[in-house]
Amino acid sequence: MALTRRALVQTSVVAGALADPVIGRAALLMPDGKPWPSVKIGKVAKLEPGKPVAFHYPDDQSPAWLLKLTAPGYDGAGAGKDIVAFSGICTHMGCPVEFRGERFVCPCHKSMFDPARNGQIYQGLASDYLPQVTLRVDSAGDIHAVAMSGLIWGRASDMMPKSTG
Ligand code: FES
Repeated sequence: MALTRRALVQTSVVAGALADPVIGRAALLMPDGKPWPSVKIGKVAKLEPGKPVAFHYPDDQSPAWLLKLTAPGYDGAGAGKDIVAFSGICTHMGCPVEFRGERFVCPCHKSMFDPARNGQIYQGLASDYLPQVTLRVDSAGDIHAVAMSGLIWGRASDMMPKSTG
């Protein structure tokens, strides 16, 4: 069985779990062994189904979308498992994706990604899923981005071990 890049990143994320004193859940490690930042990105009570909220993760150079679905989604957070988040950068050539209807659409070459199914590509030129942000909801209803599955377009070297030689 071939190990896909996505599976490798997900395995690395799960394998690197440590206790997070801020949110009382697992803190996750990036592929290079450093912890992913834990960033508060919104409140459950303020989300409306189908109305995405922009944020940045894991840094200011990486736009992303927080979204409440109308039904449970893959790796969804919150009581209804319907809160998800994704990189806002298309995996084809890096254009910013937009949310239209129930999908993320890239205006450059019309790739479409399903936010209920792990950002799966189902139309267009992109060949990889939209990277999904792992979310945690704390007891106050605050939503935290704590990791990302998949590699942000054009940023692979930033998320993998850097050469010291
Ligand atoms: S850059 Fe998004 S489909 Fe080409």
